[in-house]
Amino acid sequence: MTDLGPLSEWAEKTWSEPVRTMIQDGAGTNATVVRNQSAWLNWVLRTRVLVDVSNIDTAVSVLGRTLSAPVLVAPSGLHTLAHPRGEVATAEGAASFGTTMVLSSGTGTPMEDVFAVGGPTWFQFYWRRDRGALREILARAAEHGAEALCLTADLPVRPLLGERMRHAVGNLPGGPPLYVLDRSAHVTGGEWDHDARVTWKDLDWLRDVTELPLVIKGITTAEDAIKAADCGVDAVIVSNHGGRAVDHGRPTAACLTEVVNALNTRSHAPEILVDGGIRHGRDVLIALALGARAVLVGRPILWGLAANGAEGVRDVLDFLRRQLESCMGMTGCSSVQEINRTTITEAQQ
Ligand SMILES: Cc1cc2nc3c(=O)[nH]c(=O)nc-3n(C[C@H](O)[C@H](O)[C@H](O)COP(=O)(O)O)c2cc1C
Repeated sequence: MTDLGPLSEWAEKTWSEPVRTMIQDGAGTNATVVRNQSAWLNWVLRTRVLVDVSNIDTAVSVLGRTLSAPVLVAPSGLHTLAHPRGEVATAEGAASFGTTMVLSSGTGTPMEDVFAVGGPTWFQFYWRRDRGALREILARAAEHGAEALCLTADLPVRPLLGERMRHAVGNLPGGPPLYVLDRSAHVTGGEWDHDARVTWKDLDWLRDVTELPLVIKGITTAEDAIKAADCGVDAVIVSNHGGRAVDHGRPTAACLTEVVNALNTRSHAPEILVDGGIRHGRDVLIALALGARAVLVGRPILWGLAANGAEGVRDVLDFLRRQLESCMGMTGCSSVQEINRTTITEAQQ
């Protein structure tokens, strides 16, 4: 296998129509999903020669934790759709690879079982209206060992879903996601996971209820990156929810440059992570060259999980790392810290 395409195709053939649509598709026409992936190809690698690349080290530190490679597991709901052991198997795969898993509040497996695996884990959440319930869930995640809390902010309102996705939401096999509101809200208009009244000012409340590092996922603009920095957020994830929130959105590769430019003059800036359409170690290298500290991958983890449980997850991560190592060697980088803006150039140049 030279890329993850065959694994994706295998998963698409294996899954039932609702599961395939739920995992692979995005909001509306899927335009954002498609753009996310192709945007990384707007950049090409500047190769270097006669540099000592006999030892290539992909280790990186994210929020003070050293990871074996700059690739984290993105939060995604219901891993039980892909494998009966669900998020527990994903956590085992991520831990054996040596990276952080961001556990979704839409997990199909109880958080206690996932934290019990013992790998580095962040807990992702939406800001629901019931603050008592929110406080309880966050306290529970902290008690079981969450190393950070990740607020997903990019779904202030319901996404506009196409017919196929609406049908998929209502016809998924298995149990419901555990710490989010009923999925039917996606289609019927019941209470939504995110309290649309919440603003930056409300982060003070979060700071009062937790001492854990705070990550905001779903930042795509300079304006919001600056607000996050002003609020003392520990990390931002440049993300459009894998194209599942806004249709016809900007690809995250483009957003990343804007966010990096907005934050690079600040002495105390949040760490910058990015996700969306990363399918190759080359994309990881490009993201780092554009200024991200690390990336997250969503769908490829679910393909690996479906194919071979924990081992499949580790294999996908290993695959991306080996490709990254090759790209680093070709561009004269023996450590990820050496990757910078001169490592790549725009494709048309
Ligand atoms: C099936 C699925 C479920 C997802 N569920 C969540 C979620 O519960 N919370 C969240 O913050 N992001 C969720 N995401 C978005 C991912 O965290 C991530 O932003 C996205 O998948 C990255 O794009 P990629 O799949 O192209 O790698 C989900 C993505 C997928 C594909």
